Amino acid sequence: MRQAGRYLPEFQDFRKKHDFFKICQSPSLACEVTLLPIRRYDLDAAIIFSDILVIPQALGMEVKMEPGLGPVLPHPLTVDGIPDLKVDGAIQRLKYVGEAITLTRHKLEGKVPLFGFSGAPWTLMGYMIEGGGSKTLSKAKKWLYAHSKESHQLLELLTDVIIDYLVMQGEAGAQILQVFDSSAEYLNRGLYREFALPYLKRIREQVRLKLADKNLENIPMVLFAKGAGFSLRDQAQLGYEVLGIDWTTDPAEAREAVSCNKNIVLQGNLDPCALYAPPAALKNYTNTMIKQFGTKNYIVNLGHGIYPDANVDNVEVFVNAVHEYPI
Ligand code: CP3
Repeated sequence: MRQAGRYLPEFQDFRKKHDFFKICQSPSLACEVTLLPIRRYDLDAAIIFSDILVIPQALGMEVKMEPGLGPVLPHPLTVDGIPDLKVDGAIQRLKYVGEAITLTRHKLEGKVPLFGFSGAPWTLMGYMIEGGGSKTLSKAKKWLYAHSKESHQLLELLTDVIIDYLVMQGEAGAQILQVFDSSAEYLNRGLYREFALPYLKRIREQVRLKLADKNLENIPMVLFAKGAGFSLRDQAQLGYEVLGIDWTTDPAEAREAVSCNKNIVLQGNLDPCALYAPPAALKNYTNTMIKQFGTKNYIVNLGHGIYPDANVDNVEVFVNAVHEYPI
């Protein structure tokens, strides 16, 4: 239910009063917004209110959330700008996310588990270079082809920050950690293997090791690589306990692709637009999806972020259909 807040009237009211990143940075506001969907629906998990772009912000880049436009970084990263990124103290500057997580864990009183999350290195690199959303990501992809050394340098730097950021969220009380590689779809198998998978693997391995060093239990991790159905077989071997499946991938094909890893859990993948369907049809789509994934090793979710004009009543139809499914 990524960017779930935006379709709820109570969130829209909240946003009229508060700047987007002010909400993220104030633990009590972030906690309040995190709980909005939990109060309204019989959901089985919560995700902390934040954004993947708090990392570029903590590295010293300006990020604004423009209504109707989405995120804007007015001064995108240039090839010679990498040394200016402020890595020192970045995790300290992100401490507010940990505080929001701890507060939310207390407020949830064990009712549902709480997700922490981060953007993946490639997706963050894309936003930092493009200066916002892009239809092609051609500026960021230009780096991969024309400045591959600097690309690896940047991805390495982001990977280090992401690892410590996720460990910090785990220490703060996150019970599952999701990595969003929302821009995976712009790469092909070769590019994904060179510029994404090794970093995603290191993130999973290092979070596990660093948590163990702190005598903390392992925390399950989800990798959601949007539009990267082409790489599911590779993704299944990175050590993530869960793979997020986007709405373009057929559930049965996803199961087949990850069959090399018997323990893997799949999460997904209802087309967010199915929420526009009449309730009876929506129920059917939901049941068909669950049947295709199978009820074992499976977490129901949408196949990408919910749209701002989603019908709030249909979200309830969806949630209830899941709970009514016979197991
Ligand atoms: O569900 C939640 O509310 C949890 C918090 C959450 C947000 N963003 C809040 C948000 C999460 C998990 C995200 C992740 C995120 N942010 C991703 C990865 C998931 C995905 O969609 O692939 C990405 C790519 C971003 C960057 C981002 N933030 C974009 C592209 C946008 C614009 C979206 C749009 O079309 O409106 C945002 C804005 C955003 N992040 C909103 C919320 C509630 C809505 C904007 C607002 O309130 O002004």
